[in-house]
Amino acid sequence: MAKRVRINGDTFATMISERRIKTRVKQLARQISRDYRGTVPVFIGVLNGSFIFFADLIREVTIDCEVDFLKLSSYGDAKISSGKVTLLKDLNCQVEGRDIIIVEDIVDSGLSMQYMKHLIEKENPKSFRIVTLLYKKLAVKTAVHIDYVGFTIPKDFVIGYGLDYAQKLRNLKDIYRLKESRATTR
Ligand code: IMP
Ligand code: MG
Repeated sequence: MAKRVRINGDTFATMISERRIKTRVKQLARQISRDYRGTVPVFIGVLNGSFIFFADLIREVTIDCEVDFLKLSSYGDAKISSGKVTLLKDLNCQVEGRDIIIVEDIVDSGLSMQYMKHLIEKENPKSFRIVTLLYKKLAVKTAVHIDYVGFTIPKDFVIGYGLDYAQKLRNLKDIYRLKESRATTR
C-alpha cells in the first residue's frame, strides 16, 4: 500500500520505492563505469536536490573519479519553476580537457540543464554528459539531450530522496508525488 505524507494541507503518496531507486542507481552506475572505463571523469552534483542521488551513485561507480558541485537558484518555495536560472555556486574544478558528467535529481523544464550545458561547454571539456534520476517527459520545454535517465515520470510535483517541498522532506527514503493539493483562494 502507498505510504502517505501530509504537509501544509498537501498530500503526497509513494511513487518510487527505496528498493526500486537502489536497483536503478546501481544499474546507472554500472553503465557509466563501463562507458568511462580507462578515463577519470569528474562528477558534478547540482545542489541541493542531487546530493543523495549523487552520493549513492558515485559509491556504486567502480572506476576512478573526481567530484565537484554547482548550485543554481531554486524554485524558492514554489512548486512551479520561475523560469529564471542564476548561478549561486560555481565550479572549483578545471573543466578543460576533462570528461564531465553532470548529476541532477530531476529535469523538469530543462532550463537549468540548458544553463549548465552552456556553462560547462564554454570551458572546453573533453566530453560532456548528463545523468538525471528523474525526467519529467511531458514537461520538457528545451531540447537538451539527457544521456542517462533513472526514471521517466509524469508532470507531477515530486519530493523525497533529495527533492524538497519548500526545503523540507529531502530526507524521505522513497520518492513521493503530490496527490491532492489544498484548495487555494486565488
Ligand atoms: P528545470 O530547470 O525546470 O528543469 O528544473 C530543475 C530543478 O527544479 C531541479 O533540479 C529541481 O531541483 C527542481 N524541481 C523540478 N521539479 C521538481 C519537483 O517535482 N520537485 C522538487 N523539485 C523539483
Ligand atoms: Mg536540482
